[in-house]
Amino acid sequence: MKHFIFVLTGAGVSADSGIVTFRGAGGLWEGYKIEDVATPMAWKRDPALVWRFYQMRRAQLPAVQPNDAHRALARLEIEVRASGHGFALVTQNVDNLHERAGSRPVHMHGELARFLCEQCGLSHGDLTDFRTDAFRPCPKCKFPRVRPDIVWFGEVPYRMDFISEALASTTIFISIGTSGAVDPAAGFLKEARSRGARTIVHSLDEPGNLSSRDEFLPGNASEVVPRLVDDLLRSLS
Ligand code: OAD
Repeated sequence: MKHFIFVLTGAGVSADSGIVTFRGAGGLWEGYKIEDVATPMAWKRDPALVWRFYQMRRAQLPAVQPNDAHRALARLEIEVRASGHGFALVTQNVDNLHERAGSRPVHMHGELARFLCEQCGLSHGDLTDFRTDAFRPCPKCKFPRVRPDIVWFGEVPYRMDFISEALASTTIFISIGTSGAVDPAAGFLKEARSRGARTIVHSLDEPGNLSSRDEFLPGNASEVVPRLVDDLLRSLS
């Protein structure tokens, strides 16, 4: 039987690389609720604050490394595709650790390493210049202030058409390191379950969207995910 494996990751997969999870930090940043920084309204009201928040998070990227969970998922992708099964890795994370480990993730919430021009629509990648006190102009139309290419609260995540199609063919759904608190990603597990897929959930704490039908694997991603990948690859061969 040919499978389609859908992996959804969240902040927990990068926790062992030293990136603090959203709800692990109490959902707060310098006393602000994350929801008050990560919105289009906040960008309008106080762009300097929002810029500082994302520039500080961008500056972390060169200093952190993929961990064994990222590497195991890259191995899964390569081996699953090589044996003719379907595969999608969709991440809610805006860091670049999956691609640095060798995966080709879909970044449904955007990427810290990219900027978006609200004037001409150009999205461009750049991982230099982490100054928190200077906005960046658009390299194409020269609009003075590009925004982070991040999907904020109230905005529609990227690649939803691709994701819906992939979910429709999913036979094995794996949720890794996400609290299941933010829609629409939180609903993917239920959708896969209701379509009859095998559902595997790994996280440090039980996520809010867990059901007794799911196989739950608690622990740290860098230890649990490599074992899970070994087991899966054995079961597929
Ligand atoms: P959360 O911070 O809500 O949840 C992190 C999950 O990772 C929790 O279930 C933890 O138990 C688990 N976890 C923590 N450390 C772990 C470890 N070492 N190994 C395995 N699991 C671990 O992060 P997300 O669910 O990713 O959206 O958050 C979803 C979205 O909410 C984010 O993409 C972001 C945020 O607001 C936007 O920015 C649009």
